Amino acid sequence: MTEPHAIPKFPESYWSESSSRLSSFPALEQNIESDVAVVGGGISGITTAYLLAREGFKVALLEAGRLLNGTTGHTTAKITAQHDLIYDELIHREGEEKASLYYKASMDALQFIKQTIERDKIDCGFSKQDAYVFTNSDEYINKLEKEMAAYSLLGIPGEYTDQIPLYIPAKAAVIMHNQAQFHPLQYLSALVLKYIEAGGAIYEQTTAVDVETGSIPEVITSKGHRIKCKHVVSCTHFPFYDGHGFYFARMHADRSYVLGIRIEDKFPGGMYLSAEDPKRSIRYAETAEHDKLLLIGGQSHKTGQGICTINHYEELQRYAGMHFRIKEIAYRWSAQDLVTGDKIPYIGRITASSPNVYIATGYRKWGMTNGTAAAMLIRDLILEKDNAYEGLYAPSRSISFETIKNLVVDNADVAKHLIAGKLEMVHKRPEDLALDEGSVVKLHGKRAGAYKDEEGKLFLVDTTCTHMGCEVEWNNGERTWDCPCHGSRFAISGEVIEGPAEKPLKTLQL
Ligand SMILES: Cc1cc2nc3c(=O)[nH]c(=O)nc-3n(C[C@H](O)[C@H](O)[C@H](O)COP(=O)(O)OP(=O)(O)OC[C@H]3O[C@@H](n4cnc5c(N)ncnc54)[C@H](O)[C@@H]3O)c2cc1C
Ligand code: FES
Repeated sequence: MTEPHAIPKFPESYWSESSSRLSSFPALEQNIESDVAVVGGGISGITTAYLLAREGFKVALLEAGRLLNGTTGHTTAKITAQHDLIYDELIHREGEEKASLYYKASMDALQFIKQTIERDKIDCGFSKQDAYVFTNSDEYINKLEKEMAAYSLLGIPGEYTDQIPLYIPAKAAVIMHNQAQFHPLQYLSALVLKYIEAGGAIYEQTTAVDVETGSIPEVITSKGHRIKCKHVVSCTHFPFYDGHGFYFARMHADRSYVLGIRIEDKFPGGMYLSAEDPKRSIRYAETAEHDKLLLIGGQSHKTGQGICTINHYEELQRYAGMHFRIKEIAYRWSAQDLVTGDKIPYIGRITASSPNVYIATGYRKWGMTNGTAAAMLIRDLILEKDNAYEGLYAPSRSISFETIKNLVVDNADVAKHLIAGKLEMVHKRPEDLALDEGSVVKLHGKRAGAYKDEEGKLFLVDTTCTHMGCEVEWNNGERTWDCPCHGSRFAISGEVIEGPAEKPLKTLQL
């Protein structure tokens, strides 16, 4: 991947620009004891911590950076059980009962969000919307018909149509009625405040790096402090503690891009997703100025394997320009989420041998419902209450032959990148870099990573990923080093931004 020009920085995501910031919370500076340690300050960690604190547990919520600054702060926040085309596939691969459970779990999550907003009077732009998967490709019409048949079989309220209310050509669409959208940070900030009222503790800038398992597990932070607790919950995408579950080989990280666009046109409502590639996800957000900000997402690719970052934004802008009159591109952001081999999240006990360590991950870019369902399930597991979805999401579930095939393909892809990165010929030298430019360079005869900041300061890192040795690539949009194998991301100075890597890239000298 070549990234020739640095691209201008845009504001933070629309969500973080348009919600009042939570005050910052102190880092953990001593050993503590708690009933539960929840790690990860996104939708799943915050909702889990909130629910457990309401049940009377003493909870410590740990976050490596700031709360709500991960994928949850960079989502498009459709709250829906329409997770692309999934129900026909689930019926055929997992059976009707599991497909039905998947739908019900997502709808329970939607209901939970709605009822919480109503009960706690949370002002977060929640509105009921119909969700559409649409296609303009003859090849996909049959797939949409099958999806509609799956809706009918499972009793999902839906409709098949040959037109959508947008000025976007569509030959067919499947509608799921009564879904919703909201402002995720306004909603979750309210949950954080309720969590604190219920006695919950929060530690930001606190990275969990390991768990000493046992009847009283201890979470260990990167500064060596310990949290002694009865239960540990990892809501950190790849679990920060793998526990021999080999999660890095069972999921992959997928990145997507979003534009926030002010448009001249009226937006008719609804939330849309194209069935065919390249995927296009469309919704609007009501802004404080009472105009509608169009959110267009897409251009997914495995982390570290995309084309030059700016091309992703240009493609989205080109698409938006074909169907809407653009006033201004106001926001631009990207983020990643994890995908499991069978497209069903991993929520539950990490392994049978560590029953008091739980994970919640693999939401496949549907974490508003999946992340909420995760919190409800983990609460019930800790309370030892029955939950109808335990088997569906169990990380230890048996997987089908088709899923194993997908995993083999993913792992072959990892092996390919492991070798390709090592063989790559590099000619550029650190001194060739312009200001605010990053690139793979040749340093002392070896491949290295270099970034020259706007003041001319040079940052040099070893591009060998500290997870399993693949070669990281430069991400021009985010100014980060991204690993094509399992999606770890590192800052210009080498610190880990996203795992599974735990250790920073080695820094180098000229
Ligand atoms: C572009 C895009 C659009 C999307 N749109 C939708 C949508 O419309 N609807 C929908 O339902 N879903 C959508 N999703 C998916 C959804 O946003 C995610 O599934 C969800 O936000 C993930 O939440 P999380 O809590 O798992 O992760 P995050 O929000 O990323 O939170 C994880 C947190 O863990 C912290 N962390 C990581 N490691 C450690 C550690 N070792 N110690 C301490 N803290 C750690 C991180 O700093 C981070 O803050 C989208 C995703 C993307 C990428
Ligand atoms: S993330 Fe696994 S090798 Fe880099």
